[in-house]
Amino acid sequence: MPDDAIVAHALAKRYGRIDAVQDLTLRVARGECLGFLGPNGAGKSTAVKILVGLVRPTGGDAEVLGKPVGDRATRARIGYLPELFRYPDWLAAREVLAFHARLLRLAGAAHEIDVVLDEVGLRERAGDRVGTFSKGMQQRLGLAVALLGSPEMLFLDEPTSALDPVGRSDVRALIERLRARGTTVFLNSHLLGEVERVCDRVCVVDRGRVVAEGTVDALVGESRGVRVQLDDGWREFDVAPAEVPQLVARLVAEGARIHAVEPKHVTLEERFLALVRRA
Ligand SMILES: Nc1ncnc2c1ncn2[C@@H]1O[C@H](COP(=O)(O)OP(=O)(O)O)[C@@H](O)[C@H]1O
Ligand SMILES: [Mg+2]
Repeated sequence: MPDDAIVAHALAKRYGRIDAVQDLTLRVARGECLGFLGPNGAGKSTAVKILVGLVRPTGGDAEVLGKPVGDRATRARIGYLPELFRYPDWLAAREVLAFHARLLRLAGAAHEIDVVLDEVGLRERAGDRVGTFSKGMQQRLGLAVALLGSPEMLFLDEPTSALDPVGRSDVRALIERLRARGTTVFLNSHLLGEVERVCDRVCVVDRGRVVAEGTVDALVGESRGVRVQLDDGWREFDVAPAEVPQLVARLVAEGARIHAVEPKHVTLEERFLALVRRA
């Protein structure tokens, strides 16, 4: 389908006796932001490495942007932020970017480099050496490298693992800007709040397998019931939204003093833990 950015069928990767990825079947539409969630060791990074063509699957097949994984011309249309990377300490940020721009044979590289430096908030530090950067700044530089050449599709493997809350919120805003431009984003993360906020759809993996998939809303389910704060603390009531006024009236009639009423939400985190523990 031309509207699919990724179509993967029964992908598998075995390292010796370890099944890093097992039977991964997945579709990602163009322009979609998919959250690829799972605990450490679930197979997220391996899945991404297969999709960007760095690791050859031991089973199954996949297409990215309409071409089989590993296709060389497609690589220039993909941005990738690896989970673990390190640029040489002695290179300035701008030199790292210039090197990657050359690999991409980018026209107008100097301007493009300024644009991505602005995107990640590193413009002022462009002339400084990587060796003087904090981990968070190196991660921003990695993001800038991934953004070079305006890729149609971005794979971000734990893009905020080294960032503080401000950095995380910057990256969320960046992902939102990319989505507004129609870029497809494949976001690996074990940070549920992050995924919940920016992704259209979530795929939860554990021990190499998909254990759940769907929109964040579908995964966490409709919120059911309310939490009511009484004199002696919070109590939960399992009622439909239409029954809340009656509930409150009854409690008041029974002499309760109500300090607050709020919908009871299952967070993605609670749902995630339930899924991963069951698996
Ligand atoms: N190059 C490798 N050689 C051997 N085992 C590997 C290799 N890469 C990953 N693994 C194993 O595959 C499993 C999945 O790893 P990974 O894809 O990095 O998970 P995640 O990114 O979800 O933390 C882990 O058990 C890991 O130890
Ligand atoms: Mg990983």
